[in-house]
Amino acid sequence: MSRKILVSNALPYANGDIHLGHLVGYIQGDIWVRYQRMRGNTVYYVCADDTHGTPVMLRAEKEGITPEALINRVHDEHLRDFTDFSVAFDHYHSTHSPENRAYAEDIYGKLNTAAMIDTRSIEQYYDPVKEMFLPDRFIKGECPKCGAADQYGDNCEVCGAAYAPTELKNPYSAVSGAKPILKTSEHFFFRLSDERAVAFLREWTRGSNAAGARRLQAEAANKMKEWLGEEGENKLSDWDISRDAPYFGFEIPGAPGKYFYVWLDAPIGYLASFNKLAQKRGDINVEDFTDATRAEASGTEMVHFIGKDILYFHALFWPAMLKFAGYRTPSQLCVNGFLTVDGAKMSKSRGTFITARSYVEQKLNPEWLRYYFAGKSNGTMEDVDLNLDDMIAKVNSDLVGKFVNIASRCAGFITKRFDACLSAPDAAAITEFSAAWNAGLIANCYEERDYSRALREIMHLADLANQYVNEHKPWELAKQEGQEARLHEVCSTALTMFRDLTRYLKPVLPTLASQVETFLSIPELTWAGAWSPLPAGHTINAYAHLMTRIERKQIDALLAANRESLTPATAAATANDTKVSSSQQRHAEKQQHAAPATETSTGHISIDDFAKIDLRIAKIIDASHVEGADKLIRLQLDIGEERPRQVFAGIKSAYDPATLVGRLTVMVANLAPRKMKFGMSEGMVLAASDPEGKTGGLHILSPDSGATPGMRVK
Ligand code: MSP
Ligand code: ZN
Repeated sequence: MSRKILVSNALPYANGDIHLGHLVGYIQGDIWVRYQRMRGNTVYYVCADDTHGTPVMLRAEKEGITPEALINRVHDEHLRDFTDFSVAFDHYHSTHSPENRAYAEDIYGKLNTAAMIDTRSIEQYYDPVKEMFLPDRFIKGECPKCGAADQYGDNCEVCGAAYAPTELKNPYSAVSGAKPILKTSEHFFFRLSDERAVAFLREWTRGSNAAGARRLQAEAANKMKEWLGEEGENKLSDWDISRDAPYFGFEIPGAPGKYFYVWLDAPIGYLASFNKLAQKRGDINVEDFTDATRAEASGTEMVHFIGKDILYFHALFWPAMLKFAGYRTPSQLCVNGFLTVDGAKMSKSRGTFITARSYVEQKLNPEWLRYYFAGKSNGTMEDVDLNLDDMIAKVNSDLVGKFVNIASRCAGFITKRFDACLSAPDAAAITEFSAAWNAGLIANCYEERDYSRALREIMHLADLANQYVNEHKPWELAKQEGQEARLHEVCSTALTMFRDLTRYLKPVLPTLASQVETFLSIPELTWAGAWSPLPAGHTINAYAHLMTRIERKQIDALLAANRESLTPATAAATANDTKVSSSQQRHAEKQQHAAPATETSTGHISIDDFAKIDLRIAKIIDASHVEGADKLIRLQLDIGEERPRQVFAGIKSAYDPATLVGRLTVMVANLAPRKMKFGMSEGMVLAASDPEGKTGGLHILSPDSGATPGMRVK
């Protein structure tokens, strides 16, 4: 029986670019959708931008535009990025849409009727200058546990402690710099702790999808156990779903000045996007997918692809909200791990915070990345590492060396010697080849999202196809007298093998597969029909090169392009946002940019401002002259990171590079990287000089003995 599945990917925030980290989950989702369609299932694949909330509101304000103008621009950028990576949603909507408002109001109203909404007064930090309540991420101060300065209101990036914003010492608003005050306000809560919700969630955790696959991956089910506690226990708290004006979002019906919290209407955006798609098409019965009773009766499924950081929202709040509003609940969650690049968190200074746009602009083939990510996806929540050298090796050896190679070695003979016309195949070879093949296993791997295993199986088959070509050596047959028929047969057989390899790679490589369909002049490949050979007399089109090799220099250019995006001009625009630290990059990913720090008119700075400068003990591990620069010395500085920092210091007049190597000094480690004519400068060393220049000379600083590279200077 054919399945009917509504599939979604997480809705990206509307205030940031799509980067390769995002693409992990979107590519996994797209592969699954394409596979299901090849099996003859009906799939509606939707996404949207997640547009509401304080960060979008403040970002628009900073750019001097309306939130609507910002989200419209970003909508187009995001859609273009997804399209370029062949992530082909049937509809890409916005949570700031009439459909979403209607669903949000309906669900909220029904939860209210079901006595699942409470109101309560809570005390919260309020920015008296900006006149707004401050979300946790917009409050900073000293960590109550370790005292580290400049920490966000919910957890400390230095010692890892989690706390309430009210526990921070010397808190300040990251929006205006003002000292926040505590203010009371009435909030709406979704009663997640209600025993009906807890009982439902325990039950829901155990379910499976229509194909019998577990509703939750093992790691996700474990998390649920942890969150829900033992049978009889209730560890859940109610969920605050309202925010006070000013807020960019939907006003709550009957509650002027109160807005739905962004995370309330975000997942509802899946339904809104689907509804809009149904309006566009006119042939979908929406309620078969959204109404609890109708969905049950029609056997439709709803599957969400999400990253592991947002599991809590999708496994607790979302199913419970739907359940108590009479909506259908999710059939399955497909959760992906986080992306690292070359074993480390994506980093702007290393250029590994790679945007989708830069990848396309640098003319890298999106299918290289799809193939590599697929090869790294095994259906678990484990993190995925993009190892750039490994990616080059895999793509070049598997796709170019094995797969494309089969066609490129045989196609020419067919077009040149046989008028582009195939002969009957070598039936014995095809039989042998297909016997080595377990299509059921491949299908299972796709269904379970173990794409890595699927690709290993397919590449094993590509090896066999290459073996066949190597054994029969068409290039030699072509030179031999009387071997015409054999040459014809071998090449025709290899092309049937090639067609079926393409069939099974198609969910991962849709563009390549469509080029192959054109080249072989065949209808769109589906799952059925493998091993029925291309018939004698079938005419193919001229072979055009299908895929080029990746060169390391293309990857280096990509890294440079992403490093360059922090040129002094843009660096200046963002430099005073927050410190450029690994923690900020993590938050940059969640698009929770904090705002500029305080400037006072007295010429004084606050201790908080001083604390923004990350001073570190640095060991000079290399120093050299810079060709063409009369003031600069190029330094390589060890500050305890995995890679030394390169800094260009204007100290040539005072130092001979050779005498600097091995010395300890002090550097500013969080200065925005700067692209100079000679390369990137990733920080600054401190040196003393007479301001009037009367007594000449420059003197770099040295710490007292005992200091070691990486120590913080405060
Ligand atoms: N707006 C929320 C999702 C709302 S869904 C109703 C959000 N947006 S996001 O832009 O931060 O992330 C979008 C998706 O990309 C999420 O599934 C998130 O987990 C995923 N990823 C973001 N950064 C990622 C990596 N570095 N690695 C892997 N996935 C990542 O969260
Ligand atoms: Zn701390």
